[in-house]
Amino acid sequence: MGELKGRKLVLGVTGGVAAYKAAELVRLLGKAGADVHVVLTEGGARFVTAVTFQALSGNRVWTDLWDPRMDNNMAHIDLTRDADAIIVAPATADVMAKFVHGRADDLLTTLCLARDCPLLVAPAMNRQMWEHPATRRNAAQLRADGVTLLGPAAGEQACGEVGLGRMLEPEELCEAVIGFFQPKLLAGRRVVMTAGPTFEAIDPVRGITNSSSGKMAYGLARACVQAGAEVTLVSGPVALSTPAGCARVNVKSALEMREAVFAALPGADVFIGVAAVADYRPAASAEHKIKKSGEQMSITLTPNPDILADVAGLASPPFCVGFAAESRNLDEYAEGKRKAKKLPLIVGNLVQDGLGGDDNEVVLFDAAGRHPLPKAPKPEVARAIVAHLAGLLPGS
Ligand code: C5P
Repeated sequence: MGELKGRKLVLGVTGGVAAYKAAELVRLLGKAGADVHVVLTEGGARFVTAVTFQALSGNRVWTDLWDPRMDNNMAHIDLTRDADAIIVAPATADVMAKFVHGRADDLLTTLCLARDCPLLVAPAMNRQMWEHPATRRNAAQLRADGVTLLGPAAGEQACGEVGLGRMLEPEELCEAVIGFFQPKLLAGRRVVMTAGPTFEAIDPVRGITNSSSGKMAYGLARACVQAGAEVTLVSGPVALSTPAGCARVNVKSALEMREAVFAALPGADVFIGVAAVADYRPAASAEHKIKKSGEQMSITLTPNPDILADVAGLASPPFCVGFAAESRNLDEYAEGKRKAKKLPLIVGNLVQDGLGGDDNEVVLFDAAGRHPLPKAPKPEVARAIVAHLAGLLPGS
C-alpha cells in the first residue's frame, strides 16, 4: 500500500488483446498510490475505450498527438515532463520495433522518444511473433538502450497457442513497477530463506503443523528480490504464489527443510529463518492410516534440529537473521535467542492474535540494541527489515 505514492506514471496501451488487462493494471497502480496518465494508441483504443481508463485513473486519457486540450499543444513533451516512468503494457511487436528505430508517428512513440524518464515495456504477442528473429533483435536492442523489459510470460495465448509471449499478469506488472523504484540495497547478494510452517507426518494423511501463513516470509523474499538480491525460498506448505524472480524449493517436514537449506547455502551471503519450524516431530510416522480404536493414544515426539542455529554455527556462516514470535517478554526472549543462536540480527514480534495476519509490528534486535518499527502491512515491514539488514552486511 502506498508503495508508489507520489509517483507519476504514464501508461501506454497499444493494440493487443492484453489491453483489457491494462485496465486492471491502472487500478492496481492507482491503489499503490501512483498518479496514472494513460496514453492509448489507435490500436489500443480498438480493444478498450478511453472511458474505461479515464474512470479508473481519474485522469484524462490521451490518444492524439494533435490533442488541443493541452494549452501549449505540447502533449508529446508535457505528459512526461515530471513523470517517474513510462510503462507500455501491452507492448506489441510493432511498437517495440518503432522504439528501436526511434519512430515518432503517434503520441506514444513521440512521448517515448522525447522522454527523459525510464521506459518499462511489457511485451504481449503471439509466440511466433515473439520468437521471430526481428523481435529477438528488437528486444535485445531495447535492453541495450536501457529499456526495462517486463516479461513476457509463457502460457496459453488468445490465439489458442501455448508459448512465450503472454503479457505478465497485472499483479506481476504492478509488483515489477514497485520493484523498479526500490533502492538496490542487496545487489549482488545471494539470500536463502525459510518460509511457512512445517508439516510433521503422523501417518500418510495426518500431521502436526501450525498456523504460519508464510506471508511475512514471502513479503521478505519479494523485498529482497526488489532490493536486487538473488533469492532461494525454501518453503513449507503455504497457499501463496512465488514472488517473481525467486527460486522456490517446496518442502514439508523440518528435516526436509534443513536438507534443502544446506543444499542451497553454498555461496549465500544471507540466511533468513522465517519459517515456523516445528520443534518436535513424531518419533515414527505410521506407514498406513492409523485406525481409531476408541482407546486413548499417545504419540512420542522427538526434537527437530534447529535449522537456524545449525547455519549460524557453521565455521564461516552467512549473515544470519532469525525471527522470534513471542506472546510475552519480547525483549528478553528475542535477545536471549539472538545470543543463544549467535545471530547478528533477530526480528521479534508479539503474537497476540496468532500468526497469519496481514499487518505486523516488529522490533529488530542487533548488537547495537533494539529498533522498533511502526506497525504496518507485512510488505512494508519487509522492506524496512531489508533496509536494516543491508546496512549491517559486511562490505555495505
Ligand atoms: O527458538 P525459536 O523457535 O523461537 O526461534 C525462532 C527462529 O529460529 C526462527 O527464525 C525460526 O525460523 C528458527 N528455527 C529454525 N529451526 C527450528 C526452530 C526455529 O530454523 N527447529
